[in-house]
Amino acid sequence: MNMRVVSGIQPTGNLHLGNYLGAIRNWVRLQEKSECVFFLADLHAITVYNEPAVLAANIREMAAALLAAGVDPVRSILFRQAMVPGHAELAWLLNCTARIGWLNRMTQFKEKSGKNREGASVGLYSYPVLQAADVLLYNATHVPVGEDQKQHLELARDIAAKFNTDYAVELFTAPEPMIGGPAARVMSLRDGTAKMSKSDPSEASRVHLTDDADTILQKIRKAKSDSEPLPASVEELEGRPEARNLVGIFAAMADETPAQVLGRFAGQGFGTFKPALAECIIEAMRPITARLEEFRRDPGELDRILADGAERARAMGAATLEGAYRAMGLR
Ligand code: TYM
Repeated sequence: MNMRVVSGIQPTGNLHLGNYLGAIRNWVRLQEKSECVFFLADLHAITVYNEPAVLAANIREMAAALLAAGVDPVRSILFRQAMVPGHAELAWLLNCTARIGWLNRMTQFKEKSGKNREGASVGLYSYPVLQAADVLLYNATHVPVGEDQKQHLELARDIAAKFNTDYAVELFTAPEPMIGGPAARVMSLRDGTAKMSKSDPSEASRVHLTDDADTILQKIRKAKSDSEPLPASVEELEGRPEARNLVGIFAAMADETPAQVLGRFAGQGFGTFKPALAECIIEAMRPITARLEEFRRDPGELDRILADGAERARAMGAATLEGAYRAMGLR
């Protein structure tokens, strides 16, 4: 079976090391050998209030960041969700297949709505159904994401199976999540037990793709760690979440395993390890930030790329969307 890879990212804030190592770098690598569909999840971004002008600017900024990171808009399809109506249409059809009980189990909704559940938007609640539509529309076989999206992908599989059974069709393909490596869950630099996230108010909790060398060095220097030297084995990182996280980031950046990193740094303290880690991040980011500058200077080209991607995505999703309407008796 041919692989079809589909994945998305919300265009809110800047690309950080968690997004990059957990997802985007895998997107870039997958393009070499498979058909890929990547999009800016702008319809997901509006599930919480976003200032329209800020959102519009963030969309272009995120598109530029993805291109700078190596997404190839000719070989792959790159577009914005809001420019392909099939996402919202299929999401509605699938809202009628998804069960309230299934959505009630989504941990991300619980985290994001917090104590103010009654005040959260309906969109935030049904967000995982839109995410299911995103991948089912294109018959994705594989979805490269970070660990935090695993539950949403399982829901997409459940929705696909129930729809196919309810309407006695073989329309939707169950997508396989692709999650793994030392960076499947990059943690905050300030707290090794919390995910590195765009929504963390502390800038010091994450490294952005756009940070200059000095800022990266400062953030890594100030990153929370502990006073023990690095151990010789990965097992001994147990109970040391910050140490584990920094070793995991190093491993992902250097394309090594955590064991290999410890092989080099065992017995050394963070005074030695942190500058080496910062150097490794700075070197890997340098070409990306340089390209980012070029894409930023040409918003017309960005819009052209996104419009071209949207047209190709519309064509790719059309048959499955029609199939869903037909299966439900709506054609
Ligand atoms: P988003 O925008 O929060 O994140 C984009 C990608 O980055 C991964 N990620 C991380 N990986 C490792 N460590 C972290 N700290 C970290 N933070 C973020 C995410 O897992 C994700 O892969 N709902 C999705 C966007 C989406 C989507 C889709 C993804 C919408 N539709 C369909 C896949 C398929 C989201 O909010 O990701």
